[in-house]
Amino acid sequence: MSRRKYLQIPGPTNIPDRVLRSLAQPIISHRGPEFEQLVADCIEGLKKVYRTENDILILPSSGSGALESAIVNLFSPGDTIAAASLGVFSERVALIAERHGLNVIRITKEWGQAIKPPEIAQVLADDRGHKIKAVCLPQNETTSGVANDLKAISQTIKETGHPALIMVDAVSSLACMPLETDAWGIDIVVSGSQKGLMLPPGLGIVSVSPKAWTLIEQSTMPKWYWDYQIIKDRLKTNQFPYTPPTSIFFGLKEALAIIEEEGLENVFARHKQIAEAVRNSSKAMGLELFAEQGYESNSVTVICLPQNVKYEDLERLLYEKYGLVIGGGLQKLQGQIFRIGHLGLIHNTDVYAIMCAVEAALVELGYQVELGTAARAISETFLPI
Ligand SMILES: Cc1ncc(COP(=O)(O)O)c(C=O)c1O
Repeated sequence: MSRRKYLQIPGPTNIPDRVLRSLAQPIISHRGPEFEQLVADCIEGLKKVYRTENDILILPSSGSGALESAIVNLFSPGDTIAAASLGVFSERVALIAERHGLNVIRITKEWGQAIKPPEIAQVLADDRGHKIKAVCLPQNETTSGVANDLKAISQTIKETGHPALIMVDAVSSLACMPLETDAWGIDIVVSGSQKGLMLPPGLGIVSVSPKAWTLIEQSTMPKWYWDYQIIKDRLKTNQFPYTPPTSIFFGLKEALAIIEEEGLENVFARHKQIAEAVRNSSKAMGLELFAEQGYESNSVTVICLPQNVKYEDLERLLYEKYGLVIGGGLQKLQGQIFRIGHLGLIHNTDVYAIMCAVEAALVELGYQVELGTAARAISETFLPI
């Protein structure tokens, strides 16, 4: 059957029809007025989603490329940063930094745990010589389904009086959960197109504060394609130093319009309620959540696999019988957990389809749960009580 699958991995996400149609427009010149206007509109819309007056740079890259771009622009070999390491993606930032000759002070947490403000405050307090140039952390660690309390963390960092910049990976949290770039004083926010923004993969997006620009001007790291100063210069006329993926910009403008029509606060509230329904139905079925209680993500839920259920069997059954695509465990979590992405284009009704299919597939694989448990827990979450 050619019907679309339920793509419930934590990105790339499902794309609204309006966005899909806009992506199909004829190619335009990347040096013409039509594209320049499109870029200007996209940057204006992104500023609203980022809640910032800072510069917004758009890069033809995936999220990892955008993260690497931040490292090569902000720092010089030999610089020191503090980096949270709580899963594959936060550890990736630390690895990228090391590859570029930085000293990385890792703040390591067991996967599934969130990083807490006092842990960062301690590292900064120990750095009496103010060698640490930035604190890097993810808002949402997609590996473990943990959302850090970015507001509290940024406030604590400010209170220490340490001059380190704050660099946040918001690849799987932008347009899913509250992020106040300016109000919380986040210097660098890195994200991508294929998650909360409901677009195909292909764009990295970075916001850069005035304080970050000061560091960027001092950076001796070699670069050209990623050079923020070159990119910013060309963006003055809404152009790029190279050929950008023009078609995605049509989609970006449309996706930003969809978000604006719904209202950012409503987008966050929808993600929150849907995440609660996924968690409640999982727990009602006797399944264990992997993320630390109180720090569960609103964009992805990580569920421990019941004993005797193999991930491959669950994945195949869900795909073949229910048209549902789920995510598996990464690295050491392979075979231990499964991940349900519920970010971007998702409606309350989808949760019934997703979680009832999970319930039926688990029962078929020998797990014992009364049929209808998931649906009941979902309705109880959605009903006014
Ligand atoms: C939090 C986070 N950071 C970084 C990345 C890497 O992004 P990409 O796969 O687009 O390079 C991902 C991808 O899932 C992610 O979830």
